[in-house]
Amino acid sequence: MSITERENEEILGRADLNDVEAILAIPTGDPNEIEHIVKDNADAIFTWDYSLARPGLRRLYEKAKTGQWNATTDLPWDTDVDLEASVSADLAAMASGLTASHYDGTPVEKWGDKEWTDFAMEQRKWSLSQFMHGEQGALLCTAKITETVPWYDAKLYASTQVVDEARHVEVFARYLDEKLGGGYQINTHLRMLLDDIINDSRWDMTYLGMQVMVEGLALAAFGNMYQITTEPLLKQLLRYVMSDEARHVAFGVLSLQEVYAGMSDAEIKDRQEFAYEASVRMRDRFMSQEVWERMGINTRDVLPLVLQDPTREVFQQMLFAKIVPNCKKLGLLDRNDSWLRHRFEEMGVIQFEDMEDTGEEYTKFALDAEAPATN
Ligand SMILES: [Fe+2]
Ligand SMILES: [Fe+2]
Repeated sequence: MSITERENEEILGRADLNDVEAILAIPTGDPNEIEHIVKDNADAIFTWDYSLARPGLRRLYEKAKTGQWNATTDLPWDTDVDLEASVSADLAAMASGLTASHYDGTPVEKWGDKEWTDFAMEQRKWSLSQFMHGEQGALLCTAKITETVPWYDAKLYASTQVVDEARHVEVFARYLDEKLGGGYQINTHLRMLLDDIINDSRWDMTYLGMQVMVEGLALAAFGNMYQITTEPLLKQLLRYVMSDEARHVAFGVLSLQEVYAGMSDAEIKDRQEFAYEASVRMRDRFMSQEVWERMGINTRDVLPLVLQDPTREVFQQMLFAKIVPNCKKLGLLDRNDSWLRHRFEEMGVIQFEDMEDTGEEYTKFALDAEAPATN
């Protein structure tokens, strides 16, 4: 059976990955919106097979039960957070994530230290806000997986992840509210991705979208901020969240390995395209267009430069450090004439393919283990 070749236009809604006009054509969300409704097209499945069929998942379930923590009592919420001092200290380690001289000839050229610090403060609020919204996406997705996955061991595990994700939404929301004075609406590209994941009727797509792609990226992003930040509350909060997050990615990898091994080329192609689309949406979101808007900069003036900013590129690539090896472990890179490998080559992230995958790595992130080394 031949597999239809779909082009970027059909998968992403634009032919050129770097078409800034097309990226900006999707309007930013309404900051005053309170509810967002998505159709969840899936069957809830009971299973009457209560046997221990998947010991790997059951081990993860046992780990999850002993790895629980209480966000209210385990984190030092009485820490005073001075956002300006904190981002200024962190700037030394990461700058603003951008190369200032790269923006000569745009209104950003006139920015002095004050504007760059303001930008970094907004960027911090924006990033943590996207983490919070993504965590809510994970909460909904995991509740959905509990219903839709046909395996008993996976239902048990997924139920623990629901509680984990509730805690994650709780800590980011509280940190933003109490320590940073509020956050940002969900980024439009992240929202599109979460909508697609929830909307899909195939249970494995929830896993692929959330556990492998969104959480794979989150694990890398949290790890990066954890290493850089000197703010003690944020650092500890991230450390706790990462200990859960590593289990979640392992849950995705362990579950999908079994399913994908038995899939036809055509079915795998759908998964490869989904993984690619998710990668591009996440890359689009990291241009943080809402922050530029709040800084009074016309996004059209800067986004083409952001796409080519060398500092940003390194950061953006690092975000794929977990996703690429996990896709490889699932067999998604090289099926169908290495279709996804070629897409990752175009995105400049294929170099991570032989890094450690997250199928077993979660033990290193456990709270009683040494603090994890991240990339
Ligand atoms: Fe989470
Ligand atoms: Fe998670």
